Amino acid sequence: MTTNKKLLGGVGTAMFTLLLSSQLLAHGDVTPQSVDTAALESLGEDWLDANPYGTDHADHAKAVEIGASAYNQNCARCHGLEGISGGIAPDLRMLEPGIDGDEWYQYRVVNGAVRDGRVYMPKMADYLSQEALWAIRAWLETKYVEQ
Ligand code: HEC
Repeated sequence: MTTNKKLLGGVGTAMFTLLLSSQLLAHGDVTPQSVDTAALESLGEDWLDANPYGTDHADHAKAVEIGASAYNQNCARCHGLEGISGGIAPDLRMLEPGIDGDEWYQYRVVNGAVRDGRVYMPKMADYLSQEALWAIRAWLETKYVEQ
């Protein structure tokens, strides 16, 4: 009985997620939500190669907090709420921690992903500041799961 309930609960959640993602997919265009990064150290115009708001930065905790909501507002509709991918786009919790992951992260948010003229991922750096995007990366690293 208990097992059955759990099973049904799981199916319910899966259906909900499916419903949610198909609704979100219907809105393919970018409607970026502005992110308030006034509490974070400013980084200037030029892109840094590594996340400045790492665990040893004074603003790390603030960056994680800002990054969590910035992610859910700007990335989750493709990459999944809380970073848990529903299969539309890669699961960003699996990005390598540290500089290697940072470089790939930076490359993708700056360049987006375009294949055969189709935009799979918009150039998010056109819509969000470097501060906001590194804050998202700082949050993602707290959610890291090994592949
Ligand atoms: C419109 C959907 C969409 C949105 C919005 C979006 N992405 Fe993506 N993203 C994708 C897709 C699809 C891919 C896979 C591209 C490919 O396979 O070439 C991807 C790939 C990535 C990758 C590379 C992951 C890997 O494992 O190779 C990173 C990093 C990334 N996105 C970060 C972000 C961040 C951060 C945001 C929000 C600021 C965001 N994306 C918003 C669709 C999206």
